[in-house]
Amino acid sequence: MTEKTPLQDIIAARISEQGRITFADFMGACLYEPGLGYYTSPGRKVGAEGDFYTSITVHAAFGRVIAREIAQMWRCMETPDTFTLVECGAGNGRLACDIMDFLAQREPEMYRGLRLVLVEKEPSLESAQRAMLAAHVEKMQWLSPEEFASGRFTFSGCLYSNELIDALPVHRVLMTPEGLREIYVVLKEGEFAEELGELSTPAIAGQLERIGVELHPGQEAEVNLNGPEWLSSVYGVLERGFVLTVDYGYPAEELYAPHRKRGTLLCYYRHQTEENPYIRQGLQDITAHVDFTSLIRRGEELGMQNVWFGEQYRFLLSAGIINELEDLELSDISNEEKLRLRLTLKKLIVPQGGMGDTFRILVQSKGVTDPKLLCQRRIGF
Ligand SMILES: C[S@@+](CC[C@H](N)C(=O)[O-])C[C@H]1O[C@@H](n2cnc3c(N)ncnc32)[C@H](O)[C@@H]1O
Repeated sequence: MTEKTPLQDIIAARISEQGRITFADFMGACLYEPGLGYYTSPGRKVGAEGDFYTSITVHAAFGRVIAREIAQMWRCMETPDTFTLVECGAGNGRLACDIMDFLAQREPEMYRGLRLVLVEKEPSLESAQRAMLAAHVEKMQWLSPEEFASGRFTFSGCLYSNELIDALPVHRVLMTPEGLREIYVVLKEGEFAEELGELSTPAIAGQLERIGVELHPGQEAEVNLNGPEWLSSVYGVLERGFVLTVDYGYPAEELYAPHRKRGTLLCYYRHQTEENPYIRQGLQDITAHVDFTSLIRRGEELGMQNVWFGEQYRFLLSAGIINELEDLELSDISNEEKLRLRLTLKKLIVPQGGMGDTFRILVQSKGVTDPKLLCQRRIGF
């Protein structure tokens, strides 16, 4: 038996009033219903006490390597006097803190003109972010996603995110002998159930067509329309610079491969995975792997340059994780501590079983001619 939550009644009442809802609307309520959603209610979600780990919680070296790449972006833009960093979905601010600490220590010239903007859907996270980033707070500004996309804010620099796109609501579809159908959420005898219907918007079929995907009969899949939409809004406010996206996911041909019959939707609750999204509304995380091809396509359509795309371990190896290991060897911590940290860092880069290959990084640019980033350097395999 799982706990019944207040959100369950709210979603059920909504369906009773309006009729069936799309899975994207159901997932949106489970994650973001004000005060009750997974990300919009109190409680620690990430790390040992939360429901899942991200690369950031593993070790500060992850943020430090991203910071090395961001400093290289600043160089590719001819070291402007001011450079804005934007993080979307910053959670508790840990990654931003690791990046800012590195830039303050190692890149003082860049740090002088640096501004950090955190964009977060859940406003109450600001106090945790302020505490985490206390040393950098005079350089910081906070924006809601609505303020960010309003057009009043523009910037030059780099926007980055870690595990943002996988947390955006997805539509779910099934290919039937009659064609593509959408999975809706209904109530049957008071319980959530699924029902097939016509697509709620032609954009779903449009997106699959644009990325060259035709599902096989019986194949179920997720379609994330919010990711490319979010990228369009980023493009609108980015005057010049880079967008760096870290997330777990695949290119479309792998994500929608015929062997993947049930899609990638998964829930997390206290470090356990759960396949049923219709329980513990607001208490368990719901995610789907990211379709990186639709982000790349949208970027190209907007006129962005696709600078780099690949597995996280390749990015980290090319962009400076080895330097981080060297720094570790030279530091004055104990040998036992060094060994522990080396094993922790391994988690970030081992291709199988670690976070190294399910996680991918996409770097896109706007208005920067032929940038030469660290991640583009060849590694020896
Ligand atoms: C999976 S968490 C990742 C948190 C953090 N980046 C990490 O890796 O630990 C996703 C975060 O994105 C936030 N979020 C969702 N939609 C957003 C949007 N449109 N703009 C900014 N943040 C958003 C959520 O509230 C949540 O804090």
